[in-house]
Amino acid sequence: MKERLLIIPVFIIGIVLIVFCGTIFTTLADAAGNAQNGKVLYGKSCVGCHRPKGEGMPPMIPSLRDGRVKQMTDGQLFQKISKGVPGTGMPPYADTYSEDQIHDIVSYIRELQK
Ligand code: HEC
Repeated sequence: MKERLLIIPVFIIGIVLIVFCGTIFTTLADAAGNAQNGKVLYGKSCVGCHRPKGEGMPPMIPSLRDGRVKQMTDGQLFQKISKGVPGTGMPPYADTYSEDQIHDIVSYIRELQK
């Protein structure tokens, strides 16, 4: 009889733990979501020139990991991607991707720089 009574609190604690872990997991997944999405877009549009790890093909195509791009603010990076660099191979992406998507790509470039 005593053992049967124990089942109820153990069951309740179990449920609470499952809900708690679920919440933490969703929060973490959200935080990582931007860069993950950026990775997909990077794979579609940028990888051909800037290479899988952002190392580029110097001297023609700059690395996205080195000091120069690392020192740019997120806003400056956003502008480069959005407007491109006229007269070079770097195309503008403002018509291809939404602002949110370009922010995702910026997050992913920050991941590559780690
Ligand atoms: C066709 C090749 C090509 C593609 C595709 C391309 N880039 Fe570039 N990118 C370049 C070249 C070339 C430059 C150098 C422009 C210059 O001389 O300032 C550049 C420059 C940049 C810079 C500025 C670096 C600096 O030092 O000023 C960023 C940031 C960048 N690219 C990000 C991206 C992202 C993100 C994508 C995909 C959404 C992308 N590029 C797609 C060729 C490309």
